[in-house]
Amino acid sequence: MNPYPAVDPIPLPAPVWLLKLLHVVTLSLHFVAVEMLLGGLLLAVLLSLFRGSPLSLVTARAIARRLTIVMTFVINLGVPPLLFAQVLYGRALYTSSVLIGIYWISIIGILMLTYWLLYRFTARLEAGKSAWWVGLSAWVLAGFIARLLSTNMTLMLRPEVWRNMYSASAMGAYLPTGDPTLTPRWLLMLAGGMFIGGLWMVYLAGRSTFTAEEKSFVAGLGGKVAAAFGIVYIVAGLWAASVQPEIVKAGLAGHSGYPLYRISGFAGYGWLALVVVAVLVAAIAGFGKLSAGWIGLTGWVGVLLAVLLEIALVVYRDGVRDLTLLSKNYDVWDRVVVTNWSVVGLFLVLFVAGLGVVGWLVSVVARAEKVMEGAA
Ligand code: HEM
Repeated sequence: MNPYPAVDPIPLPAPVWLLKLLHVVTLSLHFVAVEMLLGGLLLAVLLSLFRGSPLSLVTARAIARRLTIVMTFVINLGVPPLLFAQVLYGRALYTSSVLIGIYWISIIGILMLTYWLLYRFTARLEAGKSAWWVGLSAWVLAGFIARLLSTNMTLMLRPEVWRNMYSASAMGAYLPTGDPTLTPRWLLMLAGGMFIGGLWMVYLAGRSTFTAEEKSFVAGLGGKVAAAFGIVYIVAGLWAASVQPEIVKAGLAGHSGYPLYRISGFAGYGWLALVVVAVLVAAIAGFGKLSAGWIGLTGWVGVLLAVLLEIALVVYRDGVRDLTLLSKNYDVWDRVVVTNWSVVGLFLVLFVAGLGVVGWLVSVVARAEKVMEGAA
């Protein structure tokens, strides 16, 4: 029996490929911001423990000051992929969201609490007070949100457990169990946090108005953290890939009715190659005792690699989702599409303009921070 609710009565207003493309672009940017938040926060907490070390405290403050801004990007870059995912996979995603309803809706409250704790963490650090426990609480909550997102994104792929879960609680009071893909997938994101957090430190060292001594401390530590956790990230990625069902692995290798998903398979190798290159760049920053100019350059290379490897990860992940659903009779390409080109055109114009405004905002924030730090 087909476990999915009857097809949505409204046809898709844009081609599947276009919705997927927009989903990949926006979700990749969400992942970059999520990793900066998860990794940057934990690094700032750890650094804040060394209260006798001025270098550690300066670094912790520099990261913490930016985390509330990063959180804005996490949220705003999370909304568009949620909308695209619901349009494409609504019959699976709405069902899984309802099945863990209490937890799913609680994300909003947990998110607000995390945000508030981030402000408290920064304020306490700036005031020279002990702040690690506030920052750690925010990190635990953010990690729990990540866990709930991984839970929903994997539960939507398991229609075989939906009926039992609904029988156990129609209120969505239980979380699913018994999915071997969930924990590796979540740990992959957590390890990626420390990896991207380290790369972010190298970038910060190149951009911020640190003294020469602070610059080499921030770049050296960030490079070492990124190099070490890049290896953990690779292990977690291989683990997450290895626990996928055989039929999914075969599809990624091009042995399915959809050779297109070969691209996702290649994206997996691309992700691996990009992480390896980023680990090497991080090691150079970490151990190379670089001049300020070289720190700036490695910082930018790290940013570029971080964006590219998140795109590769999202394309791979997209193939895993589609092939898993396909093996359970959900074909995302099999939808009635009635494209409203004037609306699509207007949307694209506004989308590009919106991205331009976001880029401008980022540049204003970057320049404003320099003024603040220069004045401090
Ligand atoms: C502290 C805040 C957040 C954290 C730590 C976080 C973390 C994550 C993680 C780890 C995933 C990957 C899950 C997986 O597939 O295994 C994810 C996916 C996702 N997040 Fe976030 N997220 C946060 C906030 C948000 C918000 C506020 C939104 C939307 C309003 C959002 C929208 C999404 C969507 C739509 C996906 C998956 C999309 C898809 O698979 O198509 N996230 N997030």
